[in-house]
Amino acid sequence: MTNPKGRIGIFDSGVGGLTVLKALRQQLPNESVLYFGDTARLPYGTKSREQILQYVREILSWMVPQVKMVMMACNTSSALALEVVQSEFDVPILGLILPGARAAVRQGRRIAAIATPATAASHAYRNAILETNPQVQVWEVGCPEFVPLIEAQRIHEPATVRVVDKYLQPLVSECRIDTLIYGCTHYPYLEPVLQKILPPQVRIIDPAVHVVAAGAKELDLLGLRSFQRQMGDRFTVSGCPQQFARTATPWLGYQPEVEWIQLPSLENSSILLE
Ligand code: DGL
Repeated sequence: MTNPKGRIGIFDSGVGGLTVLKALRQQLPNESVLYFGDTARLPYGTKSREQILQYVREILSWMVPQVKMVMMACNTSSALALEVVQSEFDVPILGLILPGARAAVRQGRRIAAIATPATAASHAYRNAILETNPQVQVWEVGCPEFVPLIEAQRIHEPATVRVVDKYLQPLVSECRIDTLIYGCTHYPYLEPVLQKILPPQVRIIDPAVHVVAAGAKELDLLGLRSFQRQMGDRFTVSGCPQQFARTATPWLGYQPEVEWIQLPSLENSSILLE
């Protein structure tokens, strides 16, 4: 039987999933987390459906035996692999798209999702939004430059403002959006830049907040919620642990201890460890 004292698994291609961890710390302070960042194979947003499905299966095969629930802290995986793997593994697996789409429809009528190219091309947000309310208007925009800029911690550079403006301006001036969904868990880190570009009346939806709320309900339903913190969070990556620790420190507010994990398919690849 699944142990209420067990950890919750969170995974992403890199530091993006830490925005889900942040929402979890606020809403579920007594839960402990096993975090995995697939940094050896980042970015996910330019990969094919087959590749993403293979990566997600490998991660879950390693993660599921150690956790009581998984929150996919990656929109690209949620868009391309969630439905398939939900029936293949024996723990509740939650994705970001549906909670994010439902929250957006509660707020707005002219909704844009900015996302990785793979998520935008899948139309996962458009389908989920229109299923909930066919009357709203939806735009999906793939922003391939955003994740590399965020992982390289180049958020405050003028070039980043120009790149973000290129994608956001048409949504503001031509589409006249009233709601913007962060369709990638890395994007909340761009908030200081977005604030300079978006008019104040545009509401921002961060699906991280809503997937954690859905997870909290499910934990209660299954009697799996922890009422006392049992252990610390554990951080693992497939790439360089030191680099992940450096990038994660400002977001977490402390320097995490990070372990390198060798997933079976990566056994023969040469990963540069510092
Ligand atoms: N943060 C992930 C997402 O929400 C993946 C970003 C990437 O690696 O391209 O889609």
